[in-house]
Amino acid sequence: MVKLHKIVILLFAAAFISACGNNIEVKHFVGVSMPTKDLERWSMDGENLEKQLKKLDYKVSVQYAQNEVSTQVSQIENLIALGVNVLIIAPIDGEALTTVLTQAAEKNIKVIAYDRLIKNTPHVDYYVTFDNFKVGELEGRIIEKGLGLDSGNKGPFNVEIFSGAPDDNNAYFFFNGAMQVLKPYIDAKIIVTPSGQVGWPKYGIEQWSNQKAQERMTNILSAFYTSKKVDAVLSPNDAVAYGIISALKGAGYAPGDSKKPFPVISGQDCDRVNIKAILNDEQTASVFKDTRILAEHAVSITKAIFDGLSPEVNDSKTYNNGVKIVPSYLCEPIIVYKDNIKSALLDSGYYKESDLK
Ligand code: BGC
Repeated sequence: MVKLHKIVILLFAAAFISACGNNIEVKHFVGVSMPTKDLERWSMDGENLEKQLKKLDYKVSVQYAQNEVSTQVSQIENLIALGVNVLIIAPIDGEALTTVLTQAAEKNIKVIAYDRLIKNTPHVDYYVTFDNFKVGELEGRIIEKGLGLDSGNKGPFNVEIFSGAPDDNNAYFFFNGAMQVLKPYIDAKIIVTPSGQVGWPKYGIEQWSNQKAQERMTNILSAFYTSKKVDAVLSPNDAVAYGIISALKGAGYAPGDSKKPFPVISGQDCDRVNIKAILNDEQTASVFKDTRILAEHAVSITKAIFDGLSPEVNDSKTYNNGVKIVPSYLCEPIIVYKDNIKSALLDSGYYKESDLK
């Protein structure tokens, strides 16, 4: 009889523990929606988030949307249907998630915008990103220093201006940050733009496509540079820089060439191929945004939400999404030139030396 009692108690205890187990699982489920796996940084972002969230024993599902807005929307719908409690989303088009996030809000799901702001919805709770204006400013500094403008060189220098995807809110900040540095030189005609094509979103490179950047640069070179040479190209990210580099090579530019030396070129993300281009003197520098740190902040906000604490933010004024100011955590970007590749990327374990061979 006593034995039977014990068995019944044990069975009840087992059922209770397993119910709690399920409960924990259901309450700590995070859906991650990234734009694409094609660009190195987003696949590293996805991996970092997954690793760090799993360390906390959260259930995680990471989705990549091949840069297609409709794919991203249906992936988010699926994550909602699967019962996630928190969504971490880097939108492809910051304005295309209003409807799906209303569905998320109906289920009380908290939403963290990751790297890119989600606009036109009240249903975004936090934003983690790098200081995007500063990223643009650093890109402008790469051009300023590369041309020696900060030490008084007066040129005039031929500089072409590239900007990022028209539907990406970040591209607006990158452009404005860079322009804050370059505008005084443009006004003083120390910087001139032979194509006359300056502006975002008008001249933004759709989807940040390196192919589209290559086409635009090739067209500019053949239309405006038959008897001139390019001195610098402002590039908003590494994918675009890669396209620009290919176009320049196609037009006969080469590092150290006496007639057509490579121009000063900026970038962002520190993609492997671009670090190799920096080592080969084809790209001047790239703004480094350590995706591990960004993931850490997204994870710590997620944890605070689960623990019922208030997440740490450090900016409550910059990111107005059209409906509200989204409380944000901004990480600090730095510039990586040839001479700090080792300290910034290798010593920190971001890349192994073999990655850059
Ligand atoms: C990100 C950049 C990235 C670009 C293209 C931007 O929103 O901030 O790091 O290079 O998207 O994916």
